[in-house]
Amino acid sequence: MRAVTWHGRDDVRVDTVPDPSITDPTDVIVEITSSGICGSDLHLIEVMAPFMSVGDVMGHEPMGVVREVGPGVTELRAGDRVVVPFNISCGTCWMCNQGLQSQCETTQNRDQGYGASLFGYTKLYGQVPGGQAEFLRVPFGNTLPIKVPEGPADDRFVYLSDVLPTAWQAVQYAAPPPGGTVLVLGLGPIGDMASRIATHLGYRVIASDIVPERLARARARGIEVLETTEQDEVVSRVQDMTDGRGADAVIDAVGMEAHGSPAAKLAQKASALVPDAVMQKVMQVAGVDRLAALNTAIDAVRRGGTISLSGVYGGATDPLPLMRLFDKQVQLRMGQANVWRWVPDILPLLTDADPLGVDTFATHHVPLEQAPQAYESFRQKQDGAVKVLLTP
Ligand SMILES: NC(=O)c1ccc[n+]([C@@H]2O[C@H](COP(=O)([O-])OP(=O)(O)OC[C@H]3O[C@@H](n4cnc5c(N)ncnc54)[C@H](O)[C@@H]3O)[C@@H](O)[C@H]2O)c1
Ligand SMILES: [Zn+2]
Ligand SMILES: [Zn+2]
Repeated sequence: MRAVTWHGRDDVRVDTVPDPSITDPTDVIVEITSSGICGSDLHLIEVMAPFMSVGDVMGHEPMGVVREVGPGVTELRAGDRVVVPFNISCGTCWMCNQGLQSQCETTQNRDQGYGASLFGYTKLYGQVPGGQAEFLRVPFGNTLPIKVPEGPADDRFVYLSDVLPTAWQAVQYAAPPPGGTVLVLGLGPIGDMASRIATHLGYRVIASDIVPERLARARARGIEVLETTEQDEVVSRVQDMTDGRGADAVIDAVGMEAHGSPAAKLAQKASALVPDAVMQKVMQVAGVDRLAALNTAIDAVRRGGTISLSGVYGGATDPLPLMRLFDKQVQLRMGQANVWRWVPDILPLLTDADPLGVDTFATHHVPLEQAPQAYESFRQKQDGAVKVLLTP
């Protein structure tokens, strides 16, 4: 089959790789019809590169049609239309029963000391072949795939794999009071969708980014935007807009590659010159993230407010202003999205009325073969690329 494979920093290719096959009785094989490119994929070709291997199949936002089921699969059959969550969770362990699917005890990477395995991700998360490919082996066929109805285009459902539950969790963890103000940092797919969800739930949303097309999308949906990511400016404008208090909650939808952290950016660039084995060690004991967005969040949140981190961080000892967090009585909540936990809340919104605008959320539908160019325009934020769906 054809698949998007990792070859190094800023280097993804489309290669022919072996077709996946059923190896466990509850596996299913899904023929992929749409597969998103995510901001998390960009970490793999930049900061997280030391934890990847040449030939790894990328992608964790797929949907498609079941083609084959193992002998132990009773809940699905060939021909069913499914979305595949990005976390690989069994659905039956203690963590899954708490709604903490990203901490699944069946797929936790205990040897690495990390949580549940993810499709198309690093050695820390199981190095499981991903879904930017023609076919995908999906374990836990009775509990993991999300069955969706026939009819609407893939765009209606594909974001159940990651964008929707991640953005939903970001807003739930932000937990503003009724009618409160949420500041969203970053208007990539995650920040954009979190802004839409927060607006839908009745909160006032202020969002910050500097990419013109991303700002325009948010503005078109009635979101108040700040055309800056400069910390002092964001903080003072938010204070002006909230009687000097700051936002009730801040969602960081940026993560480790934020604009405006020159020292960490240098460290990240330098790390490209260090052998992987050395860098793997360094990252697990040192601070390597660009913390600009997180620092903005800490200053822009009001006293007693909440910071909800969706953005992924990868350094082990990033410096944080703990005294300031303590003095301001800030609550900090974070983690990989627990996909299945939020699916029942989100599904009723995926209707023809389309309150979240999922049908028109993708800016680009691109053949799988053009993945390298698509990655590049998404990474460089060119050609209006906000959300790219690959079609194998
Ligand atoms: N927690 C999860 O389960 C989960 C799931 C998916 C994605 N993510 C993470 O969410 C983050 C966003 O993903 P995305 O797909 O939207 O990526 P993206 O890279 O397209 O979006 C990031 C946006 O942040 C903006 N930005 C950069 N620095 C900023 C700053 N200092 N202030 C404000 N905006 C800034 C960029 O211009 C960009 O538009 C990534 O870190 C990704 O790994 C987490
Ligand atoms: Zn993703
Ligand atoms: Zn589990």
